[in-house]
This record gives sequence, structure tokens and C-alpha cells, in this order.
Amino acid sequence: MNNNPIGVFDSGVGGLSVFSQLIRLMPNENYIYYGDTINLPYGDKSKEELVEITGKIFDFFKSRGVKAVVMACNTTSATTYDILKTKYSFKIYPIVQTVAKEIALKNYNRIGVFATNATINSHAYKREVRKYNLRTEVFETACPKWVSIVENQLQNDPESINDIKTQLDLMLTNKPDKIILGCTHYPYLINVLSHYAGTDLFINPAKSFAENIYKDLKEQELISDNQNNKIEFLVSSNPDQFISASKLFYDVREAKEIDLSRLTVNYNL
Ligand code: DGL
Repeated sequence: MNNNPIGVFDSGVGGLSVFSQLIRLMPNENYIYYGDTINLPYGDKSKEELVEITGKIFDFFKSRGVKAVVMACNTTSATTYDILKTKYSFKIYPIVQTVAKEIALKNYNRIGVFATNATINSHAYKREVRKYNLRTEVFETACPKWVSIVENQLQNDPESINDIKTQLDLMLTNKPDKIILGCTHYPYLINVLSHYAGTDLFINPAKSFAENIYKDLKEQELISDNQNNKIEFLVSSNPDQFISASKLFYDVREAKEIDLSRLTVNYNL
């Protein structure tokens, strides 16, 4: 069981911000990273579509005998985790729920969240933070253009910079103590963001999320010590763009295209 792979997924390269932290803490695991680039951006999809997509990915991971699945995607954690969490026997780690709990316990007064439309519309960050701490006020802002800015590496384009600055200015009117980068793509934009506000203002949740996963797998004695571990990168379309956009967080040398659409989904919506 310990040497069974860990499945990690996102709509594209964003989840690599989490993956790079996982590999740092657990270098001997077998990993399957799935970037669902054909369905990108997840943030503009409905909850029903996201449940169907995530179910197919979970079914695929199940067919590969994973011991755990890391939802390195805020959008699917926010919208599908509660529906799918009881349908599989492997461990499931959702980013939003894990990060929100940690933030809540830090007792900030005012927290900002930048995320995709679907994450913001679900109000999952607000709900999860307030489960543990009713004192913390949560201000949520959707940044729908940022995922394609990252996937297409347009972060230095004047139009992109203008959009990033506009959303940041809007958020700063709430006077947040910290701003969560609540989409795994957004840490790629930290250079632009910290040009207009202190780097310390922003929380990239990838590191603490990975630490939580490591702690839990260790407690359950599920860590692998396999020296010949294997890492697979699979994408549903356009491996070349995935490889090229991966450079900032984890330099993917090769990725194989795979179509999960033929898998049957065995749950009811
Ligand atoms: N990176 C994902 C997230 O954390 C999904 C972004 C998207 O495809 O819209 O929300």
C-alpha cells in the first residue's frame, strides 16, 4: 500500500505549485499528476460539470490503485469535495478545506481571497473559515482572467498587469491583513502582485497544504521509502504548452496526452 501512487490533479499547470512542495517533503513517492487542460478553465464551469469531471478523474486514479488523491485545485475542492468525498476508499486531500482551517486558526481580523468565479460563487473559503472562527471577516474577489494569463505566460503583458492591478486595488479597499491566493495558478503572478503590495501580504497555500498532507500520511504510516519511484505527468490536451508553462514551479520535461472521457462514472449526481 505504501508504494501505491499519490494522484495529484488540477486543470493545468497550477497544481504544480502544490506538487513541487509534495516532492520536496516526500521525494520517494510514486506520483501521477493529471493536468486536465482540455477542460480548462474549471473556474467558468458549473458545479454539475465539475462534479462529472472530477468523478472521472477520481475513477481514473482508482483504476491506477492510488493510496491518496491531492485536489491541488481550489475550484474542484470548493464545488465537488463534499459530494465525492464518501464515494472512494482512498484518502482525499482538498486544498480549500485544509487551507481555510489553518487560516481560521491564525485569528486574522480581515482575510482577502482571490480565486476563480466558481470558487468565489461557492463561498467555500468564507464558509470554511467561519466554521472555525466567526471573528475573521472574509472578502472574496473573482479574478477570471488570471488562469489564462498564467497558462499562456502573459504575466508581463500590459493588459494582464492592468487587470491584476485593478483586482488588487479593489481588494485593498477592504484593508485585508492577508490575501489568500485561492487558485493554484495565482502564485505564478506573485512577481506582479508584489510590485504593488508587500510580498508578505499574500499567502501561497501550497507549502502548508503539502505539509498537512505529509503529516497525515506519516501519521497513517503511508509514506513510501521507494528509491526507484516513478513520476508520471498526464494531460488531456496540448502537452507542449503544459511543459512550457510548467517552468516556474516544477520543470516538467515530458508529459503524455491521455483521454479520460471514455471512463464510466459510477455515481449519481
Ligand atoms: N487552478 C485551479 C484552482 O485552483 C483551477 C483554475 C481553472 O482552471 O479555472 O482553482
